[in-house]
Amino acid sequence: MTDNRARALGQWLADHPHLRATADPVILVRAVFADYVSGLGHARLCVDQTFKPDARPWLGVKQAELNPACYPAAELAMVFATKYREETQARIAAVIEALRPGGTLVVTAANDLGAASLERQTRAVLGSVQSMSKHKCRVFFGQKQEACLDQAMLQTWRDQGLPRPVAASGLLACPGVFSYRSIDPGSRWLADHLPTTLSGRGADFACGYGYLSQQVLSRSTGLTEWHLFDAERTALDLAAVNLSTVTTAAERHYHWSDLTVPENFIRTHPSYFDCIVMNPPFHTGQKAEPQLGQALIRTAAFSLRPHGWLYLVANRQLPYESTLTQLGLRCECLAEARGYKIIRAQKS
Ligand SMILES: C[S@@+](CC[C@H](N)C(=O)[O-])C[C@H]1O[C@@H](n2cnc3c(N)ncnc32)[C@H](O)[C@@H]1O
Repeated sequence: MTDNRARALGQWLADHPHLRATADPVILVRAVFADYVSGLGHARLCVDQTFKPDARPWLGVKQAELNPACYPAAELAMVFATKYREETQARIAAVIEALRPGGTLVVTAANDLGAASLERQTRAVLGSVQSMSKHKCRVFFGQKQEACLDQAMLQTWRDQGLPRPVAASGLLACPGVFSYRSIDPGSRWLADHLPTTLSGRGADFACGYGYLSQQVLSRSTGLTEWHLFDAERTALDLAAVNLSTVTTAAERHYHWSDLTVPENFIRTHPSYFDCIVMNPPFHTGQKAEPQLGQALIRTAAFSLRPHGWLYLVANRQLPYESTLTQLGLRCECLAEARGYKIIRAQKS
């Protein structure tokens, strides 16, 4: 199903043919690939998309450069607002900086993720914006006029996107990655239940900024390799920074991977890991999607060697035990409280 923000943007592009005809290059931030892209003609596309499932379709687009080190000077920049307000504001500030004088900023935002307030805030920063509503989204847009910019607010928006300490953890994270303000209580609880005897080749599936990996590597000394996987590149980069100070004999490897499918390293290394820890994602938008966690569990089962162990934490209502059993893993619930359960499973 096409993302509503992309559908609304397609409508906006159809209504503004003069802009799409002349703009080159075009900056696309957190953009999902959809029909609207054909409306951009042959323009070079600078695509900032660090979430692997949304980045993958751009790899097949000839005129697109994915995740360049910096944004080029451009006349048109389009930002897809995410559920993380501070991240979206930081990215809006960055593209305003990259736009040429008179260039156009376009933001597409879902109403249920606060499109109206984001529009108000962007109007305050830019001086003025116009807006249209379509497909339960707002598309708002305005020109960069140097004299009208609120430079102080832009600086605040830029600063709030930077990595910052995660409360009481010694780790760094930034808006746009899961639980960036404080350690997720489910992950913390899982860490409390992990044995200190994990050994051999291990992995952290959906590692985020590396909290569980930090806990495992600082306690289990028998690990020879430790692989971290996440679909969000920004989280993985933070994990590398966060683990750089952990003393361990385990070789560390970082994989930008969509774990719903066995791709790259996972595909070429079936039955590889002695142990896997994970706090699987279970929603992409607002609604719970247990099939997302179930897909990661399938990939974990594929990746474990016979008799290898999987430790996971999940919300109590998620039906993961039946998935594990169907995959031939023996599973037991180690603990259940405060809406969570800790499951340990072993591949036969
Ligand atoms: C519940 S969080 C756990 C993060 C981390 N383990 C922690 O404790 O903070 C889930 C993680 O899954 C990642 N994720 C979401 N979809 C994914 C996918 N398809 N493949 C791999 N990772 C994914 C997210 O980026 C996020 O970092």
